[in-house]
Amino acid sequence: MASNDFHEKSFDEATLTKLEIFQLYTREWLPVFLAREVDYVREVHLFDFFAGPGKDAGGVPGSPLRTLTVLKEYSQDPNLQAWGKTPIIAHFSDATLWKAKELKALVESEAWRIPGVSTATTRAEFAEAFVVAEPILQARDKAKLLLLDQFGVSQITPDVFRQLVSFPRTDFLFFISSATLHRFHEHPNIRHKIRPADDFNQVHHAALDYYRELLPSGRRYYLAPFSIKKGSNIYGIIFGSAHPLGIDKFLTVAWGKDELNGNANFDINRDALDPGEPMLELGSVTRPLKINVFEEELEAALRQKRLRHEVDVMDLCYRHGVMRRHAASVLKRLREEGAINLEFQWPTLDHLDQPRSIDYL
Ligand SMILES: C[S@@+](CC[C@H](N)C(=O)[O-])C[C@H]1O[C@@H](n2cnc3c(N)ncnc32)[C@H](O)[C@@H]1O
Repeated sequence: MASNDFHEKSFDEATLTKLEIFQLYTREWLPVFLAREVDYVREVHLFDFFAGPGKDAGGVPGSPLRTLTVLKEYSQDPNLQAWGKTPIIAHFSDATLWKAKELKALVESEAWRIPGVSTATTRAEFAEAFVVAEPILQARDKAKLLLLDQFGVSQITPDVFRQLVSFPRTDFLFFISSATLHRFHEHPNIRHKIRPADDFNQVHHAALDYYRELLPSGRRYYLAPFSIKKGSNIYGIIFGSAHPLGIDKFLTVAWGKDELNGNANFDINRDALDPGEPMLELGSVTRPLKINVFEEELEAALRQKRLRHEVDVMDLCYRHGVMRRHAASVLKRLREEGAINLEFQWPTLDHLDQPRSIDYL
């Protein structure tokens, strides 16, 4: 995924995995705001700030056409009751003139006109497009999904990251290249966190920790990584959302792609397990390391009476990048043991305002 001639070749496997994740998340995200007309969401905006020309050299669709494909599919879906009532605007920009021109011609062609959707395609440097978008990004009554498919990492500066996490009703996915991830390894704030020092499998998680440290203290915010391996290189997606539903849907996509750990297209913890095995049924010795680590922490938190209700359990799941259902076996065991009492098998998103409590016996 080197920057030169990126679109003059075919997309490689790693790029395709990344694009699929972008597309799958867009498919999860749209119905949240369009299933029903709601007064707190007056417009839906999708931003692709590093959009490219629309296709690779062989005509394989890039991120803008994948976004439009999802929109086109939903435009036929009668379940999305707000379609045609809540305006949907897809914004595409790219710094390279020929790419922006090709993309504009493509998305404005008859084949990509979608009822209920308008598009805006411009040639613009990210920094410039980001400033222009700011009034929309700041608006509480507009839902926003941002794709930031940069080369390297230079565009998502700490300041940009802090802005991203401050925008209301905004989820984002950004991409970090391998070389950049390796540079994180040398970052003084995170060097000590990588174990052992040369284990690049974990370097994406160290990058995530770096971004977590940029979050304003006390702010409830969810981040999750997905690592993509190509040869000896590792690329990464970082997902961010202020809402549990956002992270929940991203984890659904991630676990759909990685049945072992939900965060990589390879065996990131070197568990050497067969992804076809039914994980929840396996004995603890052969279960993925990530699930074991999560369960140990969940059990310790419950024994220390640190979790008050299901949202606390949910937050712990998200912090570990596991699905809510992964909490089920520890909750069941502690209930059967008589340590806790509760009315749920695992946390759900249905009671966010009045989460169901955990009683300690
Ligand atoms: C990895 S490619 C994006 C690929 C695109 N998502 C796709 O699916 O085809 C990165 C794109 O960012 C553009 N680019 C590079 N630097 C940029 C900048 N500072 N601002 C905006 N676009 C930039 C490049 O022209 C290139 O098309």
